[in-house]
Amino acid sequence: IFETVELAPRDPILGLTEQYNADTRTEKVNLGVGVYYDDQGRIPLLKAVQQAEAQRAQAAAPRGYLPIEGLAAYNKGAQTLLLGKDSAIIADGRALTVQTIGGTGALKIGADFLKQLSPNAKVVISNPSWENHRAIFERAGFVVENYPYYNPETHGLDFDGMVGALKALPKGTVVVLHACCHNPTGVDPTAAQWQEIAATVKNAGLVPFLDIAYQGFGDGLEQDASVVRLFADLGMTMLVSSSFSKSFSLYGERVGALTLICGSKDENARVLSQVKRVIRTNYSNPPTHGGTVVASVLNTPELYSLWVDELGEMRNRIRSMREQLVTKLKDHGVKQNFDFVMAQRGMFSYSGLTAAQVDALRNDHGVYAVSSGRICVAALNSRNIDYVVNAIAKVIG
Ligand code: LMR
Repeated sequence: IFETVELAPRDPILGLTEQYNADTRTEKVNLGVGVYYDDQGRIPLLKAVQQAEAQRAQAAAPRGYLPIEGLAAYNKGAQTLLLGKDSAIIADGRALTVQTIGGTGALKIGADFLKQLSPNAKVVISNPSWENHRAIFERAGFVVENYPYYNPETHGLDFDGMVGALKALPKGTVVVLHACCHNPTGVDPTAAQWQEIAATVKNAGLVPFLDIAYQGFGDGLEQDASVVRLFADLGMTMLVSSSFSKSFSLYGERVGALTLICGSKDENARVLSQVKRVIRTNYSNPPTHGGTVVASVLNTPELYSLWVDELGEMRNRIRSMREQLVTKLKDHGVKQNFDFVMAQRGMFSYSGLTAAQVDALRNDHGVYAVSSGRICVAALNSRNIDYVVNAIAKVIG
C-alpha cells in the first residue's frame, strides 16, 4: 500500500526547526518558528505555570478522561479572556468554547465543522498568511483563496485592496482574519480600519473566523481582544481560534480553544452538540495537564496577576529587541531602511529579506528564517543579536 507514496516536502516552519536541530554549528540561531525565548535563549517556564503545576502535582489528581469539550474551568477562562468578564454575549448564553489541541486544533475542528455546514463555501486567507492556514482548510476540503493584505512597497497594509476584495466575495464565504499580531507580517490594521473591515464582513454576509494565537503580545490581553469583541458586538455569528502556547509558554502542552458565537442560547446548545461530534471523531477528548494548569492560572487571582506581569515582560522584551535590531543594523552601516520593524507587532517581522538572502543566512551563518523573510524577533537576545545583525548585513551586501 505504501509503494507509490511520494516524499512530501518539509513543513515550511517546523521543517526549519528539524534542519536547525540537525545543524552542528554552535553559533546557529533559530528565527524560524514562532517561539518566545528569554534573554538567555531559553523557552521560559513561567512562574505562574510553575506554581499551578506544583499545586497540581501535590493534589495527585487522577487522570480520567476529560469531557469531549474539555475542562469547564478552562473553557470559561478562555472565553472570558476573549469576550471580557462583563460580556452580554456570555450572559445571554450565546458563546461556547471547547478546549482544543492548540490553536491549530481549534482551526481544524472549526474547519471540519464549517465544511459540514457549508460544503460549497470558499475560504479566504490573507496574502500572505500563516503557512498552515491554507493547508488546514484545504485538508478539510475547502477551496482556499487569498485576499490582498500586505503591501511590500510600504511594508504596511493594503487596506483598500483588502476591503475591496472582501466586498466582492460571495455571501457565506469564510474569511480568516488575524485578530492581532498578524502572522507572518506583524502588520495589523488600525482600530478605525478594523471598524470598516468588520462592517464590510457583516454587510457582505461573510463568516468571520478570527485567529488569535498571540493575545497579549500586541498591546495587552484586553486591548488585543478588542477586534474579537468588535466583531461579536456587531451581532455576527462567528468562530474564534485561540492559543495559550505562546502566552503561557506551554507550546508542547497543546493548549488551545475554539469559541463559537451563536445567535441564541438554543442555537448554542445545538452547535455544541455537533462540535462535540467533530472532536470525538478527531481525537475524542483533549489532554488534562496543560488545560488544568492554564485553568488554575486563569481562575486564581494571584496566579492570574503574576501571569499578566510575566506576559508583559515578554511583550516588552520583544519590543526592545525590535528597537535594538533596527538601531544595530543602522549602526552597522546597513543602508536599507528597517524602521518599519518598529511598527510591526507581535513576535514576527516580515523583514523584507528575499528567499535567496534567507538561504544565505542559513547556509553561510546558521541563522534560520522562514523563506518568506519572516523572522521571529522573540528569538533574538542580547547574546545573539550582534551575530544576527552582522549576518543580515553580510547577506544584504
Ligand atoms: C509559527 O507560526 O511559527 C507558529 O505558529 C508555530 C507553528 O505551528 O507554525
